[in-house]
Amino acid sequence: MLKIRRVRPNDIFQIVALSFETLPERYNPAVFNRFYEAFPEGFFVALKNNIVIGFLIGIKTRPTTARILMLSVKETIRKQGIGTALLMQFLNEMKQQNVTQVTLEVRTTNQNAIEFYKKQGFHLEETLHHFYQNGEEAYSMTKEL
Ligand SMILES: CC(C)(COP(=O)(O)OP(=O)(O)OC[C@H]1O[C@@H](n2cnc3c(N)ncnc32)[C@H](O)[C@@H]1OP(=O)(O)O)[C@@H](O)C(=O)NCCC(=O)NCCS
Repeated sequence: MLKIRRVRPNDIFQIVALSFETLPERYNPAVFNRFYEAFPEGFFVALKNNIVIGFLIGIKTRPTTARILMLSVKETIRKQGIGTALLMQFLNEMKQQNVTQVTLEVRTTNQNAIEFYKKQGFHLEETLHHFYQNGEEAYSMTKEL
C-alpha cells in the first residue's frame, strides 16, 4: 500500500540511493540531511511496504513562495500516480503555510517531467541558460495556489 508522509532521519539513506538511481545531478549526501534540518515541512517520502519509492524536497523561498528542488519516483513504478500523490501532499502543506506561488526548474530535455508538471497546473515561465552542472538549460515553471 502506498503511504506518503514527512521524511524521517532513518529514510535519508534510502533517499540518497534513490537520488543516485534516478536524478542526473550528483548531490553530496549531506545535502539531504541539511534540507531535513532546515525545512522538514517541505520534505516528503512515498513508501511501499516501508521501502522508499519516491521523494520530494521543497523549500520556502519567501513567506508566500516556495520552490520544488527535487522530485523523484523509482523508475519501475512510474505512471502510477506516486509523483502526483507526493506533489499533492507538498502543495497542501504549502497552502497551510500561506504559500500562494510555487516555482521549480526542469531540464528542457526532460519531456516526461514537463508533461507531468503541466498536468498538475504548472506553466512554463522562462528558459534558464547553463542552469545545470553540465551546462544544460532549464525551464522555470510556476503554479499559483
Ligand atoms: C516526473 C516523475 C516524478 C513523475 O512521477 P510519476 O509517479 O510517474 O507521475 P504520475 O504517475 O503521478 O503521473 C501523472 C501524470 O503526469 C504525466 N506524466 C507522467 N509521466 C509521464 C511520461 N513519462 N510521459 C508523459 N506524461 C507523463 C501524465 O499526464 C500522468 O498522467 P497519466 O498517467 O494519467 O497519463 C517521474 O517521472 C520521475 O521520477 N522522473 C525522474 C526524475 C525527474 O525528472 N524529476 C523531475 C524533475 S526535478
